[in-house]
Amino acid sequence: MITINPASLTDVDAIMSTEETGISHPWTRDSIEALISDDNKVALKASDDDKLIGYVGASYVLDEAEIGNICVLPEYRGKGVGRMLFDELRKYLKSKGVSVIFLEVESDNEPAIALYEHQGFTKYNARKNYYGEGRDALLYKKELN
Ligand SMILES: CC(C)(COP(=O)(O)OP(=O)(O)OC[C@H]1O[C@@H](n2cnc3c(N)ncnc32)[C@H](O)[C@@H]1OP(=O)(O)O)[C@@H](O)C(=O)NCCC(=O)NCCS
Repeated sequence: MITINPASLTDVDAIMSTEETGISHPWTRDSIEALISDDNKVALKASDDDKLIGYVGASYVLDEAEIGNICVLPEYRGKGVGRMLFDELRKYLKSKGVSVIFLEVESDNEPAIALYEHQGFTKYNARKNYYGEGRDALLYKKELN
């Protein structure tokens, strides 16, 4: 059964392995540990029984949050795990007083853009060549209500 729970420091190795399965901007161990330990950050993990199969990390200040990364193991993609992570993250952030979530995504990352748009995020800006020549960043946001 797939469940979503807060990640702990014992999950860092598994989160790192998730990131190494093809994410284009992997996070460092330090930044993943900070997501788990810092007061204004959160990391949620998706598990299939005991196996960590994905995670999402975000930071928040006052009523604004920013999603740092979301990743699901390749063999579990397209099964709604990303959506489950997002649903729990939204509830968590709302309980912390967040009213708007921001994120950025590379313009050619179709699965991530599909996930965000299906979750009700809208594009409000773009940064040309942010990730290198011809590789734009798209900026998305979603108001929580
Ligand atoms: C982006 C990612 C997390 C999506 O996770 P996922 O578990 O496969 O997503 P889901 O199965 O929950 O799908 C969520 C929605 O996106 C859509 N979607 C997911 N993958 C898609 C794809 N390849 N093409 C089109 N739509 C897609 C689904 O149809 C679904 O829509 P719905 O909610 O209306 O049913 C996953 O592809 C991933 O880990 N990618 C590599 C890491 C990455 O690029 N992260 C983003 C960095 S900004």
